[in-house]
Amino acid sequence: MKESNLYIGTLSGTSADSIDAALFDLGKKIKVIGSLSKKIPQNLKSKIIKFSNSKRNLYERPTKELIDLDNHFAMETSNLINQLISKLKIDKNLIKAIGSHGQTIQHFPDIENPYSLQIGCPKIISEKTSIKTVGNFRKANIDNGGIGAPLTPAFHKEIFFSKKVNRVIINIGGITNITRLIPGKKIIGWDSGPGNCLIDQCVQEFTAKKSQFDNKGRIAEKGSLKDLTKIIDSFLSSDYFQENLPKSQAIINFNFKKISRSKLKNHSFNDWASAMTEITALSIVRDLEKFCKAKKVEIYFCGGGSKNNFLIKRIRDLLNENYEIKKINNLGIDPMLIEACTFAWLSKKRIKKEEINLLNSTGAKPSLLGEIF
Ligand SMILES: Nc1ncnc2c1ncn2[C@@H]1O[C@H](COP(=O)(O)OP(=O)(O)O)[C@@H](O)[C@H]1O
Ligand SMILES: [Mg+2]
Repeated sequence: MKESNLYIGTLSGTSADSIDAALFDLGKKIKVIGSLSKKIPQNLKSKIIKFSNSKRNLYERPTKELIDLDNHFAMETSNLINQLISKLKIDKNLIKAIGSHGQTIQHFPDIENPYSLQIGCPKIISEKTSIKTVGNFRKANIDNGGIGAPLTPAFHKEIFFSKKVNRVIINIGGITNITRLIPGKKIIGWDSGPGNCLIDQCVQEFTAKKSQFDNKGRIAEKGSLKDLTKIIDSFLSSDYFQENLPKSQAIINFNFKKISRSKLKNHSFNDWASAMTEITALSIVRDLEKFCKAKKVEIYFCGGGSKNNFLIKRIRDLLNENYEIKKINNLGIDPMLIEACTFAWLSKKRIKKEEINLLNSTGAKPSLLGEIF
């Protein structure tokens, strides 16, 4: 019998908007069998945000509440996976493994004892689904000398690299990460800065959390930047945006309340949304022009931010004519499932004992990535 190539990838990104799970056939050509997302309930999301803003080292000294949250998140993930399997009517025994990223709570790669903390205990997921589960990917990268992020460049290279075309993959989640696939230049991925996080926080602030994000960018589109350019420039002059590669970011460094502080009431909701969108667009565009210079570059967007039409329009308007925006669907995968597919693929690599090379992007020596439960 032909060996099954079925793997599940699951994660919740820094936006903490939903848990995504998808089943893939990771044969020669990757096929999406099906996917399911579950919106993270507000009470769970509030706890995630509370812990994400904590300055305490939760990795070395987790609280009882955090351990409960870890278990709770693992249960939510397991339920989602079990639902996905029943929806697709797939025999569980055919599924080789689950690659589970979990939900990031803290990511501190630059401190003396660096760590990256995710909740959603993979051991519980393996027990509740009865499927082999691979997790703790970022920890493995840090243990091998890396900064724990981004992990996606290895997968982006595998499926999107072409010797003939210059390509850049831009994943706009809570944070934005960019992968440069330019033949002749080092293949490298990094976080350019905010993705949707500042826009989301702004919307949540002005709507008292009734809305979570700026649908299609319609709020920002009506705003004016006129009186906010100083704030935008000052934010973008902070050290992170001047650093060289590789670099990775944590959501704690992008805080709408800090940016708006006493001036919140001086400007309208639309203007603030517009300013947060501009910061996001400019930080992406500047990194492209700094690190992805070439005559002709194809840009592929993925992640929820690619649905923010106004953000994408601003990026397009700010970029020079060397850059052309293309649709990732043309390369064969739904742009919303690229990250889930990354973790399914990483679990396959781990099970097959194949090393992952993320030296350029994270500084880690090529190594087995993840822990099997
Ligand atoms: N229709 C939309 N219009 C604008 N932004 C959207 C839309 N749908 C999703 N988003 C944005 O995408 C985010 C989720 O994207 P996702 O790729 O899941 O990020 P993460 O990996 O951080 O979870 C949401 O928080 C929201 O900001
Ligand atoms: Mg998400």
